[in-house]
Amino acid sequence: METIIVKNYDEMSSEAANVIARLLQSRQNAVLGLATGSTPEGLYARLVQMYEEKVIDFEAVTCFNLDEYAGLSPDHPQSYHYYMNHHLFNKVNVKKKNIYIPSCGTANIETACREYDRKIKESGGIDLQILGLGVNGHIGFNEPADQLQLNTHIVNLAKETIEENSRFFSTEEDVPRQAITMGVGSIMRAKRIMLLASGGKKAEAVRQMTCGKVSTRHPASLLQLHQNVLIIVDREAASLL
Ligand code: GLP
Repeated sequence: METIIVKNYDEMSSEAANVIARLLQSRQNAVLGLATGSTPEGLYARLVQMYEEKVIDFEAVTCFNLDEYAGLSPDHPQSYHYYMNHHLFNKVNVKKKNIYIPSCGTANIETACREYDRKIKESGGIDLQILGLGVNGHIGFNEPADQLQLNTHIVNLAKETIEENSRFFSTEEDVPRQAITMGVGSIMRAKRIMLLASGGKKAEAVRQMTCGKVSTRHPASLLQLHQNVLIIVDREAASLL
């Protein structure tokens, strides 16, 4: 694991955008794995700026998102479909046919999950997977558990995740109880992984991820087993390292 500690959220976002820009400049048809949440908002804003300045181009890029809530329509303001369109896809020239976001809105979820994994494989695999970090160590929506699933699947959200994400909804009752997420195998198969974390609230999760024992009870700790992981954290998130 390579860890870069930066001053603050803005530096984290710029540093991460530079990593993506270097990839897109060397590989125009790169396959990106994308994350949602508050953490990558600054990164996406920076990528949009770089696109407008003609530093990067998304014409041939393919994007796979990590996860999506169950039970929210794609146009719901808290759905990850809406988030991605709002923060990135509507603002750059990525082709609609090259955008993949898991969806629970089909009759046969199991088939949809297998299809999602097949599409990732067919694309040649993810070149760079962006990750945020849950306060409980989740990656995507892979919650702490005795066993983790390798492939895309439906998951029951942990109590802490529901509480944590309730800030985006009117009440905690409005937070969906389930989600569809890429599994840890899908994440670990990415050629490179870049995880971002900012703020003191993430400090303990960052410590366990980088220095703790590898355990399914802290899904991000599994990243210690991947050969090419870059962690970009700000000073507050790195305060327990
Ligand atoms: C969310 C998402 C994750 C995200 C994490 C942290 O629930 N499923 O992909 O990385 O939790 O979110 P935030 O960046 O808002 O702290």
